[in-house]
Amino acid sequence: MDFLGPVGLLHEEKTLGCSQKGLPCPSNSSELVQKCLQQFKVTGAQLQQIQASLLASMEQALKERASPVPAVQMLPTYVRSTPHGTEQGDFIVLELGAKGASLRVLWVTLTGTEGHRVVPRSQEFVIPQEVMLGPGQQLFDFAAHCLAEFLDTHPVSSQSLQLGFSFSFPCHQTGLDRSTLISWTKGFRCSGVEGQDVVQLLRDAIQRLGAYNIDVVAVVNDTVGTMMGCEPGVRPCEVGLVVDTGTNACYMEEAQHVAVLDNDRGRMCVSVEWGSFSDNGALGPVLTTFDHALDHESLNPGDQRFEKMIGGLYLGELVRLVLVHLAHHGVLFGGYTSPALLSQGSILLEHVAEMEDPSAGVARVHAILQDLGLSPEASDIELVQHVCEAVCTRAAQLCGAALAAVLSRLQRSREHQTLQVAVATGGQVFEQHPRFSSILQDTVMLLAPQCDVSFVPSVDGGGQGVAMVTAVAARLAAHQLLLEETLAPFRLNRKQLAAVQAQMQEAMARGLRGEASSLRMLPTYVRATPNGSERGDFLALDLGGTNFRVLLVRVATGGVQITSQVYSIPECVAQGSGQQLFDHIVDCIVDFQDKQGLSGQSLPLGFTFSFPCRQIGLDQGILLNWTKGFNASDCEGQDVVYLLREAIRRRQAVELKVVAIVNDTVGTMMSCGYEDPHCEIGLIVGTGTNACYMEELRNVAGVAGDSGHMCINMEWGAFGDDGSLGMLSTRFDASVDQMSINPGKQRFEKMISGMYLGEIVRHILLHLTSLGVLFRGQQIQCLQTRDIFKTKFLSEIESDSLALRQVRAILEDLGLPLTSDDAQMVLEVCQAVSQRAAQLCGAGVAAVVERIRENRGLEELTVSVGVDGTLYKLHPHFSSLVAATVRELAPRCAVTFLQSEDGSGKGAALVTAVACRLAQKIRV
Ligand code: G6P
Ligand code: BGC
Ligand code: BGC
Repeated sequence: MDFLGPVGLLHEEKTLGCSQKGLPCPSNSSELVQKCLQQFKVTGAQLQQIQASLLASMEQALKERASPVPAVQMLPTYVRSTPHGTEQGDFIVLELGAKGASLRVLWVTLTGTEGHRVVPRSQEFVIPQEVMLGPGQQLFDFAAHCLAEFLDTHPVSSQSLQLGFSFSFPCHQTGLDRSTLISWTKGFRCSGVEGQDVVQLLRDAIQRLGAYNIDVVAVVNDTVGTMMGCEPGVRPCEVGLVVDTGTNACYMEEAQHVAVLDNDRGRMCVSVEWGSFSDNGALGPVLTTFDHALDHESLNPGDQRFEKMIGGLYLGELVRLVLVHLAHHGVLFGGYTSPALLSQGSILLEHVAEMEDPSAGVARVHAILQDLGLSPEASDIELVQHVCEAVCTRAAQLCGAALAAVLSRLQRSREHQTLQVAVATGGQVFEQHPRFSSILQDTVMLLAPQCDVSFVPSVDGGGQGVAMVTAVAARLAAHQLLLEETLAPFRLNRKQLAAVQAQMQEAMARGLRGEASSLRMLPTYVRATPNGSERGDFLALDLGGTNFRVLLVRVATGGVQITSQVYSIPECVAQGSGQQLFDHIVDCIVDFQDKQGLSGQSLPLGFTFSFPCRQIGLDQGILLNWTKGFNASDCEGQDVVYLLREAIRRRQAVELKVVAIVNDTVGTMMSCGYEDPHCEIGLIVGTGTNACYMEELRNVAGVAGDSGHMCINMEWGAFGDDGSLGMLSTRFDASVDQMSINPGKQRFEKMISGMYLGEIVRHILLHLTSLGVLFRGQQIQCLQTRDIFKTKFLSEIESDSLALRQVRAILEDLGLPLTSDDAQMVLEVCQAVSQRAAQLCGAGVAAVVERIRENRGLEELTVSVGVDGTLYKLHPHFSSLVAATVRELAPRCAVTFLQSEDGSGKGAALVTAVACRLAQKIRV
């Protein structure tokens, strides 16, 4: 047993007792004994002090990111929920470190049926001393060999075995299967392991052995295995407590209180690692000379001080040191000390437990002391039992104080006045020591009276629990794989995006030539961007986005002033009759004029009409087809300016001069062009999506003139309606398209714009639920509802600051039962869908800027893009992803994106102003 540390020899010269040395035995022996045993007495106040100080250290460590090294580690274990009981399957568990110099392999079968347990088959292997202190590779190779030896005796099918690695040492975990050893404890000190990922070391060793196809899917601390292994009784165990060779506890903390988890929500099992608790203020008074001696001779002096007062590896040694001390002072064994008694580690936990066990009786104590080469008197036996009692009582009380600190923390983190909780306990000290558990429970009752605690002894040392975690890890790993498979089609690479760009450029050229193309490339009769000389008051209408607006735009020397009012377009009007829609529009205009005191004034009006229109002139636009949820009858194929004028005439209200009809992309380009003359492209990514740009007039078939420019409304929303985007379209895009009011139409728009992204996400969530990946496979009613998952949720969910918290709040409001893992998956789905949308939009812009550059035969092009639309403006990453994609696909174009402040209404007014200025010039 010298792995407690290399100092056994020191005592040899002291083997002769006071009587043998002819020295008088001290008369005040009882005083000396009392003084010695008194050292192990811990007062209620001291226990409270320890409870309070440990609680403070725990909360400090939760808040800070490990600077300075906290008294206790508070390590997240990535176990986020207690067992559902639904976990099932066969799992291999490898236990290393829980039971000192032994390693255990278990075959655990989880039945998935509550209360139905299959007793695990297991095999224990003694770890040779030189392996515990040798090179790390040797230890992991030893573990791999034990695994193989165990499996050699079990029928193993070819398919890969899933293994849970119970590794009972302090580790920084970054996932269920990623864990870096911080420091060895409990007699282990292998080289080349601290700071390494122990899962990788085990995987490498298994690989080196190459005997079995074993997948290490989870690494678990023994306290977690103990907690997860407890039968879900009245209430699930939310604390795991181990007192074996070492000691430690874990509990389910609110994840948001764990700083390193960055605002996560839900719960996270945290391994306290209280073995390293060493607050001199609290511990100083209870540390005895024997504790210092034990620590001094240990493998890790100065570390794990709290553990060295409680752990089974140390209790025997503490007793031995006290016995040696008392013998040396002649009050025990007549002052005789045997070589065995002077040998470090010669008294084990089981010795202490037996010597204290009233049922074991004096005979057993006598036998144990005889084995140590001693011939105890009856008084010696009584004193030895008192020493064992003192050492173990203190250990149990200290452990009780520590557990009381954890319970107080749990109560605080749950903000409960009282706490009902079940604590799973495991470890040889609990199993072997007759009174440890009861003393501990009494101490907890004393120190945490507001907690109603039930103790659930672990039945198999946590093997079942480790298998539970492994099952959860395996399930999560399988789910992550299914999630990746589901989202893979949304992960577009550079080659695919460049193909979209090239296809769009070809479609643009064909559209301009008037050939078959999914891009209609509609001339807008806007030939110039504003030059700043425009002046006057104009009315503007802005229809087709989220809101319908009526605006008064005053273009003056000092700039442009806008007064506007938002009006709603009820769905029944948007999908009613055309007459009803345009009468509604005129009603809004009249209402606006009344409110603005414009009644009776006949101001020129610019009409932003954000739908595909074949323009015959600036004030004539034939609606080709509705998009974005509009479907008013008797409009398609009609001149919408005429329909508006008819509505004005029907109202007999005022004479309005409709001067121009512009697409919102054109309005946006003009609006931004007023500030930046480089702005020659308009981009909308809102309810719908589209772009326009200044094309060379010579390239525009069907419009007279070879010089100068014409703004072209690309109507890129329809890109791919000829099937050219088929290779990118997913089953979810097909579902969204089929359920839309214009199936087969606007395919590009349906992959990008705000009206559809939420729906794509909803369909993916339904699919993942059907695979059992989300919401435990429970089909959720509300997710069956169209448009229930708003696109604005993506913008909120993907906001960097409050990711998971936001996800849960939003989805809980939707009535979705959510685990943190579900939340993380929903976030990844949203990210994949919005990223694809932004990249496709970027590929489109890259096609446009490259066309302009090539049109002008330029090496480099500097151009600005006026942008509007809720999705582009509100989504936290959309705009930067678009810009990044353009930089990658059109490196020879310096593109600036200008977010339009005043919307395209201002643009419509400016187009009207330009038209009026040009008309004025002709007249003079
Ligand atoms: C602004 C413009 C509208 C445009 C809309 C698109 O509001 O003024 O003309 O239609 O953006 O974005 P949205 O998200 O509203 O569909
Ligand atoms: C380790 C813990 C472990 C405990 C009980 C301690 O030495 O640091 O990780 O849980 O022993 O085995
Ligand atoms: C329409 C375009 C419009 C775009 C953005 C599309 O659905 O077809 O005309 O520019 O939405 O609002």
